[in-house]
Amino acid sequence: MHFFRYRDHKLHCEDVDLEQVADRVGTPTYVYSATTILDHYSRLDAALAPIDHLICYAVKANSNRAILKLLANAGAGFDIVSGGELFRVLAAGGAPAKCTFAGVGKSREEIDYALEHGVFSLNVESEAELDQIDRIAAEKSLCAPIALRVNPDVDPHTHAYIATGSHENKFGIALYQIGAVYARAAGMANIRVAGVQMHIGSQITEAQPFANAIEKVAPLLRELKSKYGIKFFSIGGGMGIIYQRALESGSGKWWHDHGGEPSAFSVSDYADAIVPPLRDLGIQVLLEPGRFLVGNAGVLLTRVRYIKQTGSKKFAVVDAGMNDLIRPALYQSYHEIAPVIEPNKSKPDKVDIVGPVCESGDFFALDREMSELHEGDLLAIMSVGAYGFVMASNYNSRPLPAEVLVRGDKFALIRKRQTWEDLARGEIDPL
Ligand code: LLP
Repeated sequence: MHFFRYRDHKLHCEDVDLEQVADRVGTPTYVYSATTILDHYSRLDAALAPIDHLICYAVKANSNRAILKLLANAGAGFDIVSGGELFRVLAAGGAPAKCTFAGVGKSREEIDYALEHGVFSLNVESEAELDQIDRIAAEKSLCAPIALRVNPDVDPHTHAYIATGSHENKFGIALYQIGAVYARAAGMANIRVAGVQMHIGSQITEAQPFANAIEKVAPLLRELKSKYGIKFFSIGGGMGIIYQRALESGSGKWWHDHGGEPSAFSVSDYADAIVPPLRDLGIQVLLEPGRFLVGNAGVLLTRVRYIKQTGSKKFAVVDAGMNDLIRPALYQSYHEIAPVIEPNKSKPDKVDIVGPVCESGDFFALDREMSELHEGDLLAIMSVGAYGFVMASNYNSRPLPAEVLVRGDKFALIRKRQTWEDLARGEIDPL
């Protein structure tokens, strides 16, 4: 369920008219709905109620402090992948004891920082990293709680760049090798074997890959529980969201985002697939959702600068670019694009919606069928709350966009738009 709706022919986020946001803050601007995020969090929490669980929000999806604060207050833990993310969580008042620290290449400084703050666990992806954590913990006379990341070798049926749980990916340790690594870890003086972690990929729109992965890993979990008394299993994130028809839906169902047939994958389908096998294990379950919590809770407001007709093609050049939202260029991802003012006489048209950046990959939609656009029209690029702003860059020396959080009939600026001065800050003239 998300809270973007037309009311009196104007697109609203909750009770806030998005045209007003654009008038006050300018464009391009990311706008997030607090109620949507909290609704998604509590639905997932309720669906998992039959098992002892902790939802650790994947900070990488959207790391604005206001969003982290919202989720920390709702009781969430956090899945972090860098010292910077831990720093943000602490600044937002999140509990380090509810942070699970993932990533294949943690630095000495990051491991140090995480141990000092007493994170819930460090998720280890290689033996070399395990040795490093043991050494650092010994220097600090600490015992580091760890989970090894298991690679169950399943196909999550998603875009190749965001599939992580197959033997061809750099992530995790293979099932056939992991027993030996746990045995080594259990013998280390400054390591405490606390759990097992996995994450098979992102934007997964069926329950089956999760069920398959749990089935493959369950024997290992039973063995580790009896041998070392492991306390938790993290099944990672990856629950997909609706991208296509994101505006009309709100039914709690998700659809494939590559133009496929609607798929019946909902929170309860997900829970039905994972709760029974996990309940039997009798250990705490961690979930690391990012996209599911925030994806459909955000839009990017952008204004049409020019309409350009060349031969058979028509382009609407908008003021947001691939530097603000890189998903279409990087993953050929589909985002619904909605006019903020609903046209009263809709004239069907086909248009490429492109940004001002000097790359042909700088587009948000190709040959999109929608009502005719005009200069000055305000558009909302939908479902960009996850992996939107966080992947933005200053490419073409474009300032990062502003971010706004809506709750009810109020909205607040939660990140100022960068200025040109900001772009050069930190640069130093050589002697
Ligand atoms: N846990 C781990 C270990 C992860 O690597 C990830 C995402 C998550 C949890 C959260 O996954 P989610 O629930 O959001 O699917 N930039 C890409 C997505 C990259 C995902 C990376 N890892 C995109 O825009 O689609």
